Amino acid sequence: MSKKLIQQYICQACGSVHPRWNGKCTDCGEWNSLVEEVIEKPKKTELLKARANDVEIYSIDSKFNEAMRTKTGMEEFDRVLGGGLVRSSAILLGGDPGIGKSTLVLQVLSSYAKQNLNVLYISGEEAVDQIKLRASRLNVTEKSISICSATQLSGIVSTINSYEHIDLVVIDSIQTIYDENIESAPGSVSQVRSCSFELIQLAKRSDFALIIIGHVTKEGNIAGPKVLEHMVDTVLYFEGDNTYVYRMIRAIKNRFGAANEIAVFEMTDTGLKEVSNPSQLFLPTGGQNHSGSCIFAGIEGTRTILMEVQALIVPSFLASPRRAVIGWDANRLAMLIAVLNARLGINILDKEVYLNIAGGLRINEPALDLAVVAALISCFKNAPIPRDFVIIGEVGLSGEVRNVSQISNRLKEAEKLGFTKAIIPKSDVKISSNLDIFAVNHINNILDIIKN
Ligand SMILES: Nc1ncnc2c1ncn2[C@@H]1O[C@H](COP(=O)(O)OP(=O)(O)O)[C@@H](O)[C@H]1O
Ligand SMILES: [Mg+2]
Ligand SMILES: [Zn+2]
Repeated sequence: MSKKLIQQYICQACGSVHPRWNGKCTDCGEWNSLVEEVIEKPKKTELLKARANDVEIYSIDSKFNEAMRTKTGMEEFDRVLGGGLVRSSAILLGGDPGIGKSTLVLQVLSSYAKQNLNVLYISGEEAVDQIKLRASRLNVTEKSISICSATQLSGIVSTINSYEHIDLVVIDSIQTIYDENIESAPGSVSQVRSCSFELIQLAKRSDFALIIIGHVTKEGNIAGPKVLEHMVDTVLYFEGDNTYVYRMIRAIKNRFGAANEIAVFEMTDTGLKEVSNPSQLFLPTGGQNHSGSCIFAGIEGTRTILMEVQALIVPSFLASPRRAVIGWDANRLAMLIAVLNARLGINILDKEVYLNIAGGLRINEPALDLAVVAALISCFKNAPIPRDFVIIGEVGLSGEVRNVSQISNRLKEAEKLGFTKAIIPKSDVKISSNLDIFAVNHINNILDIIKN
């Protein structure tokens, strides 16, 4: 009997399915991301058969067994994982090419092997000799690490099954693996989904931890890791780009720990080195104090990290002036530019505005607003902000300064690092701090403070 094939167009950016080709994905707005994929329609009887299987029932009060976790031995990596890798869970490790994904997993494999655990590294990108070359540079010499170069799913599954017991399997990268039962090219949404699904099921059945590496890409023809975020238990992304020495890994989703935790590493020729106290890593070192820059104390997961916010305003000759933001939300910057105009009469709507969080960090907190406003004002007035200030606060549309979380933790860390003054939101809660506190409830107050 001939199988029923259906033709679909799948967005390689968000995974949505469309009956017809379109220049732009109507779901996520990405251009040129729809790719034709032919899939086999499952027969009704097969679906019914799948439903007929029995389901095991458990009591809800059964506790999570901490013994399920294995410490990787890299403390920073363990902390983003929430304490270690959990058996039979799937972890997606995403990031730009060259950022350090393969390096990190080799180091993790090495510490697993040191604990006499069985590990398997499957690379679809590099030949065995290339892997060995990197391993010897990183001083990863454990004989018990099995490596192979493979791309075909069925081969990979049977290789994994041939192990009596395995603790950790790494797939580098999912975009190179293909399921021969699916017609579309490796790296397409259908392939990435199908291969991941199969491997994740296998990890649950055979009780090993599975790390899936996924490249982040802008091009439409390779599916980004976004399409498998919901399939895995934990999603980790490398942040920043590989021009920096420091590499950050952030947990975006974690079924076994807190999300939004970050780990900081330094890239060296012998691999990634942990930075266990990164609070001052992103601060400017010495040098001269110039306008358009100020210091913000941010909360990343459970840690306070101080960082420099830089703004630059220059004349524009374009009808819609350029706005470039690195490390923050461009919409939020646009909002603050409008607030400055409407509430302080500072008009930079016709100027080019650049905003940069120095060091490659990506900030999601609105608590950064006030520091951005201060940097913009400082640049506009060409008035440097003294280096002993930290600035923290959310800004609303009327220019009001709103409260933010964990203010005492932020101030404590700033004090530890030698700051003496802080501009923070006015609040009824008493704050005990040795810093000189300037509590403000509107952005028009910060002008006077900076000037003094
Ligand atoms: N010989 C070397 N000395 C120092 N650093 C190196 C060397 N070779 C590669 N690197 C670093 O390792 C990075 C590549 O890491 P890799 O783990 O292969 O990235 P990914 O797997 O994410 O593509 C490079 O960007 C570079 O920073
Ligand atoms: Mg790699
Ligand atoms: Zn889309």
